Amino acid sequence: MRKYIALAIGLLSVASWHLAAQIIHVSTPNTSLVFQVQNNKVFQSYYGKHLDATTGIETMGNVFREAYPAFGDGGDKEVALIVTHADGTMATDLVYATHVQGMNGNIQSTTISLKDTKLPFYVDLHFNAYQSEGIIEQWVTIRHSEKGKVKLSQYASSTIGFMADAYYLTHFYGAWAREMHMTEEPLTRGIKSVETKRGIRTTEFENPSFFLGLNQPASEDNGEVVLGALAWPGNFRINFEVDNIEICQMTAGINPYTSDYNLKSGELFTTPRMILAYSDAGKNGASILMHRWARKYNLRDGDKIRPVVLNSWEGAYFDFDAKKLKSMMDGAAEMGVEMFVLDDGWFGNKYPRNNDKAGLGDWQVNKTKLPAGISDLINYAESKGMKFGIWLEPEMVNPASELAEKHPDWIIQRKNNREQLLQRNQLVLDLSNPKVQDFVFGALDDLIKQNPHIAYIKWDANRHIQNFGSTYLPADEQSHLWIDYAKGLESVFARFAQKYPDVILQDCSSGGGRVEYGSLKYAHEFWASDDTDPFERLFIQWGTNHVYPAIATAAHVTKSPNHQTGRETPLKFRFDVAMSGRMGIEMRPDDFTPKELIFAKQAVATYKKIRPVIEFGDLYRIQSPYDADGFASLNYVSADKSQAVWFVYSHEYHQRQEQNLFRVKGLIPNANYRITELNMDSPKASIPCNGKVLSGSLLMNRGIEMEIRKPMDSGVFLLTKVE
Ligand code: DGJ
Repeated sequence: MRKYIALAIGLLSVASWHLAAQIIHVSTPNTSLVFQVQNNKVFQSYYGKHLDATTGIETMGNVFREAYPAFGDGGDKEVALIVTHADGTMATDLVYATHVQGMNGNIQSTTISLKDTKLPFYVDLHFNAYQSEGIIEQWVTIRHSEKGKVKLSQYASSTIGFMADAYYLTHFYGAWAREMHMTEEPLTRGIKSVETKRGIRTTEFENPSFFLGLNQPASEDNGEVVLGALAWPGNFRINFEVDNIEICQMTAGINPYTSDYNLKSGELFTTPRMILAYSDAGKNGASILMHRWARKYNLRDGDKIRPVVLNSWEGAYFDFDAKKLKSMMDGAAEMGVEMFVLDDGWFGNKYPRNNDKAGLGDWQVNKTKLPAGISDLINYAESKGMKFGIWLEPEMVNPASELAEKHPDWIIQRKNNREQLLQRNQLVLDLSNPKVQDFVFGALDDLIKQNPHIAYIKWDANRHIQNFGSTYLPADEQSHLWIDYAKGLESVFARFAQKYPDVILQDCSSGGGRVEYGSLKYAHEFWASDDTDPFERLFIQWGTNHVYPAIATAAHVTKSPNHQTGRETPLKFRFDVAMSGRMGIEMRPDDFTPKELIFAKQAVATYKKIRPVIEFGDLYRIQSPYDADGFASLNYVSADKSQAVWFVYSHEYHQRQEQNLFRVKGLIPNANYRITELNMDSPKASIPCNGKVLSGSLLMNRGIEMEIRKPMDSGVFLLTKVE
């Protein structure tokens, strides 16, 4: 018997539970989140595996906290809400007002309305439970009709208690060119925060997502885990508090750091969405739920195949003209590329963008480099059977730009003549200002209006907020900047997605600085990292694809030695790693030798055949690159399990006698599959049974010996169900 039960019963007055409880059951076929109304307060009663019925839950003792604890309601732990009311008082006491629940197709939606006992202050807790995907999404709206402004100092999106013998937190940390690395730690008493205070490039150092292993460290295929992800491009904070009764309380939302928010009477404050997946089949089960949900509900065109891209950045950087780009397009088209993307460096005239020191903000084509304009490039790409995309960094400005000269007040800045701190020689535009939002939207809109065949936008953001201060926001609302910036950004994203539903949008921020579900709702994909070294990418993509799906994970083949790490890798390994995401190329095609070009062409053709399985299939993680044995392996399985694509990588030396038996996951055990090695760079297959038919259960249980032993050796296998 857990000691906290006894403790909790001792702490709370059992006598006060005699009133009939009202039960609110948020559920999907695999998970339940239950609340009960007791003496007018709403408490969480349960979170975890689906409950067929909740009979008697109100008699079991109330160990969990209120559904939305507020400062001043008598509690002494982490709260979801801190309010200074219009009359200056700080106590808030939220009680049940009403709740509504209904089914809308696949979604069970629930709203629990709470109100303060004394003041006209209201909080609505919203839950969408996606039935087929097993996802619960939560957000909160706050409003009031007090006489004057109310100050919000804390406003969580979600707070949920977990009950287990032990808690193990996996979170994703990193740096520039090292995003989404993973670490797991046991949670002990106290609060652990996963957070950022950077405003932009928010996911470079930490990601607003986590796995919580209940009772045991999270394993791939066994045990209870919770996967959470906050959909918010701004500052976030996810707190895990293991308290005196050994409940672990997760409280997630906008980071309240220097972010007091004044709410006018009648105004609505909406928090970001928190997405939760529960699995009793380990991390892999939770990832599959999250990926399926994201493709359907949180990604643009999650059911459409992504084009193979050639991006100009690592092949040309700032050093190009139309001739060079056209020659890159010739090679790209020959390789079967479907989208040519012109990266940084195409704009600015008075302040030409020939390096990162000038031009940001001046979104007019550079007449020296591209005298015939963008349309000339688009026509050329289209004449080669490709579409055309272009890079912008519309939130930013170089001091050396016409924009900075014309609108210095549009720049986020430290006031009182303080020095403005530069990063990559640039400053940030103030997206809390509606005029700036119009400018940012207008930069994209004008460009596409002038060049209606632009089919892809890479939206970059290469610095975070340091010079805190807005010339738009009034003095008493400077602390709104963090939140209003993120909301301004979301509203421009939404306008763009609405006006240009067919233009692909890539989120990029110095690599993987904008990998979260808030931005991704309006985008098709993200640039996972500026580190394109395939060895490093094994780790970056491994972590990234725990939370975000492969279809959205841009992974490009670049030159060897790699520009970031200097590591040399075989072309096959580079392709095999990129193929496990949304594959593209980012080098000059004429840097390939004739032999390599033949290989690259075949690899692109192969990827086109297998990409439906990778982009729409379920991901099964088999062997982690973090494991000590120097291998990594994963496979994708189509929804009907008729096809699977299996990747095996060796990233260390393995001596000849070493056993390396690989198994696959997710197949139909009693079906038969033909195994075919793909993307080979030598006539000899890596497996003895290439082309043969094997049963699903053999493939999943016995495994196959592979001649994949050298560092940066790899294999790709197609499994096709035979009748
Ligand atoms: C950072 C991005 O991550 C790169 O891919 C590239 O677009 C550069 N910015 C361009 O400045």
